[in-house]
Amino acid sequence: MPLSASDPDLSLRLGLARELAARAGAIQRDRFETGLSIQTKSATIDLVTEVDRACEALIVEELEASLPEDAILAEEGHGDDRDAPFRWVIDPLDGTTNFAHGFPRFCVSIGVEKRGERALGVVYDPLLDERFEAVRGEGAWLGTRRLHVSKEPELGRALVATGFAYDVHRSEDDNLASFRNVVKTARGIRRDGSAALDLCYVAAGRLDAYWELKLHPWDVAAGFLIVEEAGGRLSNLDGGPADGSGREVVSSNGAVHEALLAQLVRATA
Ligand code: IPD
Ligand code: CA
Ligand code: CA
Repeated sequence: MPLSASDPDLSLRLGLARELAARAGAIQRDRFETGLSIQTKSATIDLVTEVDRACEALIVEELEASLPEDAILAEEGHGDDRDAPFRWVIDPLDGTTNFAHGFPRFCVSIGVEKRGERALGVVYDPLLDERFEAVRGEGAWLGTRRLHVSKEPELGRALVATGFAYDVHRSEDDNLASFRNVVKTARGIRRDGSAALDLCYVAAGRLDAYWELKLHPWDVAAGFLIVEEAGGRLSNLDGGPADGSGREVVSSNGAVHEALLAQLVRATA
């Protein structure tokens, strides 16, 4: 039985999120490994392609036509983020560096908040045709399969993912001390280049944990709920609640969380 939402407002938005993720994902699939116009943003390694922009334009235009009263926060700057009962938080293409290099790991990420609370999330990987999704209180799902985090209790047997922010060339707060510690303690470490998919893989038990610093709301809006609904734990580097800004993200199956936190280092100013 696939995911459904009992709240009619959320049911409507879940249907729309699925449709828009599928349509944006189809653009990504069609344009993968084709010639692209690529620009840089905050740094020479922070890329945006015409496909990021096209996917965002499609999603935002459809939302503005269908639900004009809803607020929208989207990475590439479309949409109107204002006070409204529902807010959509959108990363039209998470994994742009991968996409631009023909590395097959990227997705569309769409989260919806209801009165400031994460309410639903859809993350769609168009190459594998995998749709991860969750509605608050209704579980996390991959297609018709209900997701649960892994049960692995030992960091030494855990597969862990991380990432590095776009200021890594110039910032001392570069995650490398934590990276070294985890390389030396976990079974394996991955840097796959899509924060949203990393969170979904924790939810699916494919990863036991994932941490990253300096993310943004659109990277985590959907994935956080998918981890929570799969029974995972989210925190900041101190073990306190992870806020939706994405500044400090530690996610895990719960069982390895404290052991992972013990390896993570916050840079001193
Ligand atoms: C990036 C990816 C990457 C993470 C970066 C994000 P983008 O998102 O999620 O894995 O390490 O910090 O900004 O730029 O591809 O949407
Ligand atoms: Ca992103
Ligand atoms: Ca993006």
